[in-house]
Amino acid sequence: MILPLNILYAVAVLTFLKGSFATSDINFNIEGNPRLVPETLAHTNYSFPDCENGPLKDNLVCDFHADPYDRARAVVSLFTLEELFNNTGNTSPGVPRLGLPPYQWWSEGLHGIANSPGVKYAPSGEYSSSTSFPQPILMSAAFDDYLIQQVAEVISTEGRAFNNFGQSGLDYWTPNINPFRDPRWGRGQETPGEDPFHISQYVYSLILGLQGGIEPNNLKVAATCKHFAGYDIENWNNHSRLGYNAIISEQDLSDYFLVPFQSCVRDAKAASTMCSYNAVNGVPVCASEYFLNNVLREYLNFGEGVITSDCNAIYNIWNPHQYASSQAVAAADALKAGVDVNCGVTYQDYLPEAFNNGSITQEDVTTALVRQYGTLVRLGYFDPPQNQSYRQLGWKDVNTPQAQQLAYQAAVEGITLLKNDGTLPLSKKIRKIAFIGPWANATSQMQGNYEGDAPYLISPIQAAIDAKFDVQYSIGTLIDSNSTANFTEAINIAKSADAIIFAGGIDNTIEAEAQDRESIAWPGNQLELVSQLSQLRKPLIVLQMGGGQIDDSELKSNNAVNAILWGGYPGQSGGKALLDIITGVAAPSGRLPATQYPASYADEVDMTDMSVRPGPGNPGRTYMWYTGTPVYEFGYGLHYTTFSAAPVKQPHTTQTFDIQSLIANARYNVEYIDQALLTTFEVNIQNTGKVVSDYSALLFAQSQVGPPPYRQKELVSYTKLHGIKPNQKVIATLPVKIGTLGTVDELGDRYLYPGTYTFSVDVDNKATFSVTLTGEKQLLSALPQNK
Ligand SMILES: *[C@@H]1O[C@H](CO)[C@@H](O)[C@H](O)[C@H]1NC(C)=O
Ligand SMILES: *[C@@H]1O[C@H](CO)[C@@H](O)[C@H](O)[C@H]1NC(C)=O
Ligand SMILES: *[C@@H]1O[C@H](CO)[C@@H](O)[C@H](O)[C@H]1NC(C)=O
Ligand SMILES: *[C@@H]1O[C@H](CO)[C@@H](O)[C@H](O)[C@H]1NC(C)=O
Ligand SMILES: *[C@@H]1O[C@H](CO)[C@@H](O)[C@H](O)[C@H]1NC(C)=O
Ligand SMILES: *[C@@H]1O[C@H](CO)[C@@H](O)[C@H](O)[C@H]1NC(C)=O
Ligand SMILES: *[C@@H]1O[C@H](CO)[C@@H](O)[C@H](O)[C@H]1NC(C)=O
Ligand SMILES: *[C@@H]1O[C@H](CO)[C@@H](O)[C@H](O)[C@H]1NC(C)=O
Repeated sequence: MILPLNILYAVAVLTFLKGSFATSDINFNIEGNPRLVPETLAHTNYSFPDCENGPLKDNLVCDFHADPYDRARAVVSLFTLEELFNNTGNTSPGVPRLGLPPYQWWSEGLHGIANSPGVKYAPSGEYSSSTSFPQPILMSAAFDDYLIQQVAEVISTEGRAFNNFGQSGLDYWTPNINPFRDPRWGRGQETPGEDPFHISQYVYSLILGLQGGIEPNNLKVAATCKHFAGYDIENWNNHSRLGYNAIISEQDLSDYFLVPFQSCVRDAKAASTMCSYNAVNGVPVCASEYFLNNVLREYLNFGEGVITSDCNAIYNIWNPHQYASSQAVAAADALKAGVDVNCGVTYQDYLPEAFNNGSITQEDVTTALVRQYGTLVRLGYFDPPQNQSYRQLGWKDVNTPQAQQLAYQAAVEGITLLKNDGTLPLSKKIRKIAFIGPWANATSQMQGNYEGDAPYLISPIQAAIDAKFDVQYSIGTLIDSNSTANFTEAINIAKSADAIIFAGGIDNTIEAEAQDRESIAWPGNQLELVSQLSQLRKPLIVLQMGGGQIDDSELKSNNAVNAILWGGYPGQSGGKALLDIITGVAAPSGRLPATQYPASYADEVDMTDMSVRPGPGNPGRTYMWYTGTPVYEFGYGLHYTTFSAAPVKQPHTTQTFDIQSLIANARYNVEYIDQALLTTFEVNIQNTGKVVSDYSALLFAQSQVGPPPYRQKELVSYTKLHGIKPNQKVIATLPVKIGTLGTVDELGDRYLYPGTYTFSVDVDNKATFSVTLTGEKQLLSALPQNK
């Protein structure tokens, strides 16, 4: 059932996410919705239980040699019923009589630790800022998994430093890994893009960096795979995420929507998962035993990990989903489905009632609390500080010169060159630049959402001033305005300049949490201004900013627009990264992590049509299935040089494998057979131009095996090569796992089929290989059936 968006709520969320959490900013009581009650948002001055002298010193929980879940059970068994209920929300009071301090489960860290109930910045001085990396959509364009691991290591280090000072939690409700299925989604900026394989690789490296390893002895911080599952609509056409019922086939679930979770949960072993607001096929996910138990805990091997609800999603099981007849029933449904932490207060307020009428047992609540405390134990919460290096981190480890350099590098590596007639890098003769457009002086805009307090924000014009250019600036127009009031001023400064940089696109006023786009065209009259500027026939560079793509067709076909760069939300050093690429201090190597569709795409398919495969009223989604012609395709991105690719070992471009032998070997080598290696391609990448440059080697597979329809192609491997000099050859090593070649049937089961698979390097097929698989089709994984 789909109910209208609660507009007031959307405004409250926006205020909340942007604001400093001053309670007066927030309307706490919207149409009876207890969302965002003050207790939910309460900051906690974090501290650790005292295992040396405190009341628990002789309890098993303080024995750091014991099993984490035995330790957790030992402490939770001391809780009274009321203490159990009281600790089921994100703002948990702890148990003072046991020396258990309050705990705030809700900390954010999407691209740097971020403002949230669990993260508090000092007004100035120490702990007043943290490193602000680009939004994931731009970092993913780097196609550099090691970069992502390093970024995550900084985020977790800074999180620990803040935690040691009492100002941040140990549980981070990040990453957002729902695939960016439709360009209109307001939160696509938070994700690594549209391709499930790419997201899987990205998130594996991210979790490694956040948690301090794959199942380390001590978690560095706990990461949360969100939003599980099928969540990628905010409020399109009044379909509110709070009550949205996504109709998703088992085939698409298994083949697309669940793939990133397999990597985040099953392979990278994230400690936590968040269930989403929406329903899938009629059942709100936070109340779904099928999703939370059969799929997540069993099939994805999440075991005793912590499931947290999205904020007030348990309340939403009742209103607006109307799946439960009361809040008490909603609370019981969620608890029994396996939700351990309620973001909100529905559990704290209504579990007692559910208990009193026999809908839940004390054991049900205990199970949730054991999972909570099991995670805290794994975080070293009850361990002696001298045994943990993480407990030694402090302000000196925050925003270090290395972290600052990494934030800059992440932006440089992601920024993507979409068009260039040779104008870029700018000639050294160009000294006077007219900066025009609503992003030219961007500062906080560069962070996108889920932002922290950055140590600095270098705007494009500030970067140009710092580089001693003669800078003229006019905003020209706003993001979404049809006023031409500033056109004359903009054109006048452009007339006297050597070159024009127009910086525009979209930002969080157009795409945001609780706000999808209706149109994927450039908003307002920005293109009209660019068109007028192009008539001056001066070097004209357009910076297309924002997370979702917008249709650049007009700029692409206008010969007087010399270059286009996509810059996403580039973070604290964004302006410098953009300017350094424009001037040739750095070379671009980003690749689009999402298809740039023509604007007409928004009229061709409803956002609520969840199908990724083409069908009536749906031209297909993503580069794998879209049957139209993209403006710029997934993986597209130019360089300042040229590259060639050739197999290292000629003529070994064709290989044959027997499926049954592959599977037999796999059983000895990997935990899950889809992880088994098929083969590793080695490709010589040669810089055939004149500029030192990074290069992302992308390997796509194509096949027509198993039942149709077939994907056009699919990314199966990639690697980033750094600093390739003119004429230099570097080997790209591209491993391919058998799971990536599987074909998913209508039940969601993944099979490896015999037949011929062709592999090509890069979007323009710089080199090709083929592999023939012989033998019988083989089941790789079977999605649990929803009975
Ligand atoms: C939090 O607690 C620490 C240690 O007890 C103390 O130094 C710090 O001042 C507290 N911060 C706030 C904001 O209360
Ligand atoms: C549980 O929470 C309620 C509401 O905040 C409070 O009144 C009560 O004292 C708490 N009980 C215990 C045992 O902490
Ligand atoms: C969405 O809902 C609002 C408020 O109920 C209404 O004014 C508006 O016309 C609706 N928009 C669409 C596209 O249905
Ligand atoms: C508990 O109350 C809810 C409604 O308030 C009802 O639907 C449910 O059946 C009751 N459970 C029992 C065991 O009485
Ligand atoms: C923990 O620290 C204590 C005191 O420094 C030391 O004796 C002990 O060996 C350490 N244990 C582990 C497991 O590191
Ligand atoms: C750019 O923005 C900053 C802060 O938002 C402001 O202080 C500065 O005056 C602006 N610069 C220009 C040239 O408008
Ligand atoms: C015009 O420029 C002024 C001064 O920079 C700015 O405040 C205003 O918002 C701009 N208006 C439009 C429509 O571009
Ligand atoms: C600008 O004009 C276009 C075309 O007439 C219209 O669709 C759009 O809504 C207008 N935008 C604003 C902000 O007024």
